[in-house]
Amino acid sequence: MAKELFAGQKKNKYRIVISKKAVSKKNLAPLLKGHNKILIISDNGVPTKIIKTITEICKPSIKVFKIILQHGEKSKSIQNFEKILNFLADKNFDRTDLIVAAGGGVVGDISGYVASSYLRGIQFIQIPTTLLAQVDSSVGGKTAINISAGKNLIGAFYNPKGVLIDTAALNTLTKREFKAGLAEVIKYALIQNRTLFLLLKKYSLEILSMDHRIIEEMIFLSVQTKAKIVTKDEKENGIRAILNFGHTFGHAIEAHGKYRKILHGEAVAKGMKIASKISYLESLISLKEYQEVVNLLQLFEFDLSLEQYKYKELKPYVLRDKKIKEGQLNLVLLNKISNAIVTDSFNAKNLQRGLQD
Ligand SMILES: NC(=O)c1ccc[n+]([C@@H]2O[C@H](COP(=O)([O-])OP(=O)(O)OC[C@H]3O[C@@H](n4cnc5c(N)ncnc54)[C@H](O)[C@@H]3O)[C@@H](O)[C@H]2O)c1
Ligand SMILES: [Zn+2]
Repeated sequence: MAKELFAGQKKNKYRIVISKKAVSKKNLAPLLKGHNKILIISDNGVPTKIIKTITEICKPSIKVFKIILQHGEKSKSIQNFEKILNFLADKNFDRTDLIVAAGGGVVGDISGYVASSYLRGIQFIQIPTTLLAQVDSSVGGKTAINISAGKNLIGAFYNPKGVLIDTAALNTLTKREFKAGLAEVIKYALIQNRTLFLLLKKYSLEILSMDHRIIEEMIFLSVQTKAKIVTKDEKENGIRAILNFGHTFGHAIEAHGKYRKILHGEAVAKGMKIASKISYLESLISLKEYQEVVNLLQLFEFDLSLEQYKYKELKPYVLRDKKIKEGQLNLVLLNKISNAIVTDSFNAKNLQRGLQD
């Protein structure tokens, strides 16, 4: 059964559809209405079937252009940003035209940023094709590209016109990418969504074996949580910080491996274990609750080993974390399962202790 929900405030509110066949005429046609030209942005790791389906739906009234980037994080570059803007200008795209991002978070992030900038903003829609993009990057309006000084340093808050989450796209994803996306799903369960926590516990085998009925429900609950948080705090001034649960250490672990050794979700899984351990050390949760978190992560076969990371080596990255406000490191911790808090009051020694098993 198709599911739908909304995110964004007032004028910038958008509809999110989740189903096994979300990229359909029924869902796409209303979003295409009034546009004469579209540019589909994708990458060469995304199955071409999705792009063909979109193109077919546009025929014959809408002129379709395509840009297929090289897959990988490197594509979120200033060079590609400029290349796409020049392409739009060459083809005389105006504010009535539309960008369609069909791909993972890389495609979604650069497409959204192009959309936010070209002619000071043209509309775009998100068709996320990785689990991470479906539950995380396609919702919330954050767009970005990378520069040599760092990842996601350039970007804008810019909401899409709509999001179509087609769960069938997940069939071609590697198991590793799929599981990495599950880390963000577990994050929503731990920070705010008890129903999702129970679903994950009960149906881990079904999820790992790609049972679409359960996966659709799992994505719905994840997006529901993210949509609620980002709609309350569109520009990241407050509550949105809890979405960074597991990310302070997760980012440090990724950066320590120079972004080559470990996928984002795999690092976040380790980061969530550390943040939960610190929550326990701070007496915010019981040992039993901490173990419940670890058990859930293990149900999804995450490698939670931390021996290879020395606190001394991670510390510079932890302290560089963008959640530091006025020199004070803010941590996202658990007050109980499915209830996260942001705090700058904790025993600094527990940062190191959190890494110990
Ligand atoms: N804007 C946000 O709020 C936000 C949130 C989280 C992450 N991000 C960004 O998202 C990016 C990571 O996204 P990602 O994990 O989706 O990575 P990705 O976009 O690089 O996709 C991973 C790989 O999967 C391939 N792929 C995509 N769809 C596929 C499909 N259906 N079948 C088979 N292969 C497919 C891609 O070609 C790529 O090689 C990072 O750049 C990160 O900064 C943004
Ligand atoms: Zn993340």
